[in-house]
Amino acid sequence: MAEITMPMGRYLREHPTLKYFFFGGKGGVGKTVFAAAAAIGLARQGRRTLLVSTNPVHSLTSLFGQDMLGKHVAIEGVPNLWSYEIDTRQSIERSKQEIREKIRWFLKFADITTKADDFVESATMNPAFEESAMFENMIDLMFKNEYDVYVFDTAPTANARRLLGMSKVYALWVNKMLKSREEARTLRELLSFTKKKEADPLMTYLVSFRDRMEHARVLLTDPALTTFFFVTLPEALPIAVVTRFIQWFKDFGIPVGGVLVNMVIDPASVGPDTAEFVKTRVAMQQEHMKTIWREFDDSVRAIVPLFETEVRGVAMLQRLCDAIFAADGAKPTVESAGQPNQVRKRV
Ligand SMILES: Nc1ncnc2c1ncn2[C@@H]1O[C@H](COP(=O)(O)OP(=O)(O)OP(=O)(O)O)[C@@H](O)[C@H]1O
Ligand SMILES: [Mg+2]
Repeated sequence: MAEITMPMGRYLREHPTLKYFFFGGKGGVGKTVFAAAAAIGLARQGRRTLLVSTNPVHSLTSLFGQDMLGKHVAIEGVPNLWSYEIDTRQSIERSKQEIREKIRWFLKFADITTKADDFVESATMNPAFEESAMFENMIDLMFKNEYDVYVFDTAPTANARRLLGMSKVYALWVNKMLKSREEARTLRELLSFTKKKEADPLMTYLVSFRDRMEHARVLLTDPALTTFFFVTLPEALPIAVVTRFIQWFKDFGIPVGGVLVNMVIDPASVGPDTAEFVKTRVAMQQEHMKTIWREFDDSVRAIVPLFETEVRGVAMLQRLCDAIFAADGAKPTVESAGQPNQVRKRV
C-alpha cells in the first residue's frame, strides 16, 4: 500500500512558523478550492487568516457566495477567516497613476516638454503590466502584515512562477537603471556651472522600488515563512506541469511544500456493473499514480477523492479540508492509489 511519508496535517504542525501559503498548478486542477479549504483549516486553528485571489479570473466570490472584489470580507460561518479578490482594474489604475507621476518627474527633471500621457500608455499597454500590478498588490498585503497567515490562490503556474521570479529580475533591472542614472547625474553635474547637487526623484524611487523587491524576495524565499503547494490530477499534463514548475521554483529558491493529488477515483468503487468509461478512467488514474509516486514520492502531502459534486460553499469546503488534512501518516485517502516506486526520488 502506498503511504504518504509526510501528510499535510503533520507537515503544517511541524512547520508552525509558515505564514505565506501559495497554491499553484495547471488550470482547473483545484487550486482555488484547495486554497480555500486550507484557509478554513488554518482559521480553525485560531489563526487570523486572509485568503487572497491573485488570479485575474477570480472565483472566490462565487465559491463562498459573498462579494469580495477589492475588499476584505469576513467569511460567514468561519471565525478568523477573511477573503479578498484583488481588483485588477483598480490595481492597474493605481500603478498607471504612479507611473504617470514618475514620468512627469522625469520629463521635468530632463527639461523635456512632451506630455507624460503618451509615455504612460506605451509603458502600461504591455500585458506583463497587469501581472506586475498584481504582484505589487500581493507584496503590499505581505508587508502590511495584518493577518497571522495568508493563503494565495494563484493564476495557473506560468504566471505564478513569473510573479515570484519577478522580484529577482526587477532587482537586476533596477540596479542597471541606477548605474546609468548615476552616470547621467555625474555627467550633468560635471557640465553644469554651479556644482549644486540636485535631488533626483527618479533615483529615489528606483532605490525604494529595489528595496521593496528585495524585501519581497527575502520573504518569498524564506522556508520558515513561505511554502508553495502544487495541486495535480492523476493525469499526464497536470503532472508534467508540476514537474516542470518544481524545478523552476527550485532554481528561483522558492520553497516547495509538496504536491496534493486531486480528483482520484477510489478503485474499490469499481464493480462489474461499472460503466466501461469509468473503468478506463480509473485504470488511467492508477497508471498516473505510479508516475506521481515515482516523481514526487515523499513530497506527496494528500490524495483527495473526486467528490460526487463540485466543491462550493463552506460545508463542502470543510469536507475538502477534512480530506486534505485527514491522512495523518498511515494511509492516503484512497488506499490503493498506486504504489511508491522503489527508487526514491526527492523533489
Ligand atoms: N475533489 C473534487 N471533487 C469534485 N469536484 C472538484 C474537486 N476538486 C475541485 N473540484 C471542482 O473542479 C472545478 C475546478 O476547481 P478550481 O476552480 O478550484 O480549479 P482551479 O485550479 O482554481 O481552476 P483555474 O485554473 O481556472 O483557476 C470546480 O468546479 C471545483 O468545484
Ligand atoms: Mg482558480
